[in-house]
Amino acid sequence: MAYVVGAIATSHTPTIGFAFDNDKASDPVWAPIFAAYKPIQRWLADKRPDVLLFIHNDHVTSFFFDHYSAFSLGIGASWAVADEGGGARDLPPVPGHPDLARHIGTVLMSEEFDMSFFQHRALDHGCFSPLSMMVPHESATAGAPDKAAWPVAVIPLQIGVLQFPIPTARRCFKLGRALRLAIESYPGDLRVAIVATGGLSHQVHGERAGFNNPEWDAEFMDLFESAPERLVEMTHAEYATRGGMEGSEVIMWLVMRGAMAPRMRRLHRTYYLPSMTGIATAIYEDDELAVTPADVERARKDSTHQLAGIENLPGTYPFDFVRSVKAYRLNDFLHRLVEPAHRQAFLDAPEPLFDAFGLTQEERDLVRRRDWRGMIHYGVIFFMLEKLGAVIGVSNLHIYAAMRGQTLEEFQKTRNAPNALYSVTGQKGARNEWDTQPDNGHA
Ligand code: FE2
Repeated sequence: MAYVVGAIATSHTPTIGFAFDNDKASDPVWAPIFAAYKPIQRWLADKRPDVLLFIHNDHVTSFFFDHYSAFSLGIGASWAVADEGGGARDLPPVPGHPDLARHIGTVLMSEEFDMSFFQHRALDHGCFSPLSMMVPHESATAGAPDKAAWPVAVIPLQIGVLQFPIPTARRCFKLGRALRLAIESYPGDLRVAIVATGGLSHQVHGERAGFNNPEWDAEFMDLFESAPERLVEMTHAEYATRGGMEGSEVIMWLVMRGAMAPRMRRLHRTYYLPSMTGIATAIYEDDELAVTPADVERARKDSTHQLAGIENLPGTYPFDFVRSVKAYRLNDFLHRLVEPAHRQAFLDAPEPLFDAFGLTQEERDLVRRRDWRGMIHYGVIFFMLEKLGAVIGVSNLHIYAAMRGQTLEEFQKTRNAPNALYSVTGQKGARNEWDTQPDNGHA
């Protein structure tokens, strides 16, 4: 089973990545930052985690207000470094761990945390600023292609702390407990370190910009170790009062605290306030059992309960993480048919568009042959098929019949209204020869 080797807490200020990229180790202003991460580098080299479960927030880089979510787990295979304006840092993508992420996501949902899930989103300084200082790695441009660019995989857990309302400190702590059950119930043999990022005190907006409170930062780190129940009771306003508005992101640390044993041991702790944000680092290990084997077993059982027996339904393919990750490229290609320019390009010349989206030969062939059943087997979700149908003038009923291996006429005989044909197209002109009656089926 997966095993939690311990936890790291770290600020994620852009200054950490800046100091690293500009080789400021011998500059007295930046040297304390480098010194703070030395014990973390040694600890990671000693513990050799396979995966870092990286709790962080995005800074309106890859997660915008068109759809803002509280708890977002990254289930993808790779994580690129984001361009935050002015170009991305010279860092290679860090590998994800889709299999462990799939399991963690499933358990968190069965533990009744309504997660969101993402892939193909670049990660900003919330992740890469401390990561680049913590772990040895190649540069993106100089890295030898046959060498692993990073020695560890990352599963990002992105927490929406910027658009209120945001999760309470208590909810973060509870998520941590479920997270521990999720990690430890994974059947594979993996070593996992939990990394909590954010803070400490800072405010970067408004007339209060530049606010710091080192006394509170020290008290926060004391309470974090020995009395986290005091921290989970605090409101967002109390965090902002004592640690600055943006400093209230330290509630993300409580996810890690909830995942650790009630009694934990501190191996390392530093604090340095060079400019706008108190930069903290720490290492913790459990000092007692965090979760019982019985709790882990109960969580594992519960996580399979909802879909138990689904495999007995013939011709049924639940759209799960495995299918979502595998078929992302093709689903994305078909999803973009909702954009007029993309669908026109597809109708005019599909082959160059296949090239532009890097579809595999198998994926192109499925689309070329309008292999509706094959696409479902491959991992395309049905709602992409009906979009493709709407674009090329095929009704939903044609698609249903083809998936069943029947002619349209055979399938229509099984319907109460055998003449009903429809599609999701909103334009009459896009209907095809099947639409012989003006209002046929468009009730
Ligand atoms: Fe942040």
